[in-house]
Amino acid sequence: MSDTSENICESGLVTSKQNGVHPRLERRVRRHLEAPWLQKLHLPSQENYRQLVREGAFSGGQALILDSGCGTGKSTRRLAARFPEHLVIGVDRSIKRLAKSGVTSGFLQRENYILVRAELATFWRLLLSGGFSPQRHYLFYPNPWPKPGHLSRRWHGHPVFPQLLALGGEIEMRCNWEIYAREFAQAVEFATNVNMNVTEIQPDTAVSPFEQKYLDRRQALFSVIVPARTSQAFRLSR
Ligand SMILES: C[S@@+](CC[C@H](N)C(=O)[O-])C[C@H]1O[C@@H](n2cnc3c(N)ncnc32)[C@H](O)[C@@H]1O
Repeated sequence: MSDTSENICESGLVTSKQNGVHPRLERRVRRHLEAPWLQKLHLPSQENYRQLVREGAFSGGQALILDSGCGTGKSTRRLAARFPEHLVIGVDRSIKRLAKSGVTSGFLQRENYILVRAELATFWRLLLSGGFSPQRHYLFYPNPWPKPGHLSRRWHGHPVFPQLLALGGEIEMRCNWEIYAREFAQAVEFATNVNMNVTEIQPDTAVSPFEQKYLDRRQALFSVIVPARTSQAFRLSR
């Protein structure tokens, strides 16, 4: 499970040949909405998910919060402290990042949070087919994949996008590349027919290490929030 910081320069600023919303975004999103994605699940991620279920991780009755692409897990711990009645699940494929929070293999369970090593495109599909729906779903600073040819690697251009949306809950995506935020918002609009806003945010305290890095460098940060009623209506329409 490799990771890449390609095209994020030293300052953390995204550089790209793309200077607006990708011209093929709408076609791509509509194609994914029409055809179900049949790619096989990632087996190690499926095994980690199954073990979580076997060990009763989801059976405590707490509402779920997902921190997708949680990196080192710092944001997961912050969310867990902020929402003590919830179960917060941080998911990342990078063992190098997760190891900074003590994850050595599949997952680590602490008070009201769990850190799991998994491929998100598999983990989201498993949660969906298991009937789980997070109350809140955070995507803090996903890899931007800024090359125009990498549209399908951005979450809104990826074939898993309909399932990500169908998982439901209030979804917040934050990033420091405005084009990514505008594309994400438009992709949600294509799927739901509901207008989405891109908001420039200035958090007082950083929720995650990447946010901290960007705040330290005084970069502009953007957020898209999909209300739970919008993702829920989409979930019911599938
Ligand atoms: C730019 S970092 C942001 C980390 C953290 N959210 C933060 O704000 O500090 C993106 C993270 O997403 C993870 N990631 C990217 N693609 C992933 C995938 N398909 N499945 C799981 N994790 C992924 C990477 O390993 C990396 O830790």
